[in-house]
Amino acid sequence: MKIAIGCDHAGYQYRLEIIDMLEKLGHEMFDFGTDGDASVDYPDHVHPVAQKVDNAEVDLGILICGTGNGVAMTANKYKNVRAGLCWNEEIVSLTRQHNNANVLCLPARFINIKEALQFVHVFLNTDFEGGRHKRRVDKICM
Ligand code: RB5
Repeated sequence: MKIAIGCDHAGYQYRLEIIDMLEKLGHEMFDFGTDGDASVDYPDHVHPVAQKVDNAEVDLGILICGTGNGVAMTANKYKNVRAGLCWNEEIVSLTRQHNNANVLCLPARFINIKEALQFVHVFLNTDFEGGRHKRRVDKICM
């Protein structure tokens, strides 16, 4: 898969580990930083990821900040982006199955790296259920 990833300083270490795991699995990564733990503004690292997803240049996106909320709010400004904030494994599954999320948003300050890697694994390996959920997802955009 083609996967875009971005984070702010709160998610820097998580991003590195996620990229390492996904590259070893053969995925093509599009990395939009941030490249260190110096304080940055999360939208600067979200817009390039969201644009790639919005334009269907990648299959999925992954975003990380302290709470996951800032990155989710920014990414969801794009018409074709469905970014879901996930803090446990069941929510990751449901966010794919019911919401057809194409961007996973992780709250680095509230989950550990092991959980983050597991959530990414689940996100990539869970399918949208369609059916009544497609009807609902189709109603999201105004
Ligand atoms: C950075 O301190 C923090 O505000 C950011 O990572 C994120 O939680 C914003 O939503």
